[in-house]
Amino acid sequence: MPQRPYIVGNWKMNGTRAMLSEARAIDRAAQRHMKVEVAVAPPYTLLHAVHREAAQIAVGAQDCHPGEEGAHTGDISATMLADAGAKFVILGHSERRMGHGESNELVRTKAEAALDAGMRVIMCCGETEETRNSGKATGFVLDQLRASLPEQVENPLESIAIAYEPVWAIGTGKAATVQDIGEMHGAIRTLLIDLYGEEQGIEIRILYGGSVNPENARELLGADEVGGALIGGASLTADSFMGIALAAGEIEDN
Ligand code: 13P
Repeated sequence: MPQRPYIVGNWKMNGTRAMLSEARAIDRAAQRHMKVEVAVAPPYTLLHAVHREAAQIAVGAQDCHPGEEGAHTGDISATMLADAGAKFVILGHSERRMGHGESNELVRTKAEAALDAGMRVIMCCGETEETRNSGKATGFVLDQLRASLPEQVENPLESIAIAYEPVWAIGTGKAATVQDIGEMHGAIRTLLIDLYGEEQGIEIRILYGGSVNPENARELLGADEVGGALIGGASLTADSFMGIALAAGEIEDN
């Protein structure tokens, strides 16, 4: 039984309390689109407020510290996020790998902490334009994932999702092609089966991210092995975000 399409909004460093009305509108619309699993990762400052408003959507965070508590000024642990209502955490996003020097190993310890706290992990991966142009994108992404994903995972089908986000497609308006996505997701699928076994590995959702919008969503979400989308800019208004969710629901109808 295939899982529902998973449509996740990553608000990044956007949103003040004025955005709570968008979150409410997303939640209301999600109640009418139950064939799609809708989730939002607002900034930390809105996490608890969005969680309290949401009846249908899951709320998650965009990062966590690998430790549980202690003297880490400015950091937030997975346990604290779960306490604030987070059901998942996005980890290994290229904006953290590149902007904060996060290594695969650090990302893996964060993932272990998030799983221990009972949250789902959305593990991001993706190559730069330079790596793609050198023809090494697939090898790079598989190495990145192999080193970032925890090996021992209880029920990986429920607790892990992958987001393939080519760096050159993020925020550029230049999404990857259906063929490139299908090829990369196929390679990631093989890795997931290798890591987590056939039964669960075959169904873990692999999201595509990078310049997804309501106009291109149907085509991109229809690519081979795409189980949903991780959306940045187009997740900031309920109209465009739910336009993508609607497209995902229509694909499932086919
Ligand atoms: P955009 O949808 O703005 O390209 O961002 C994608 C992304 O980085 C989501 O995590």
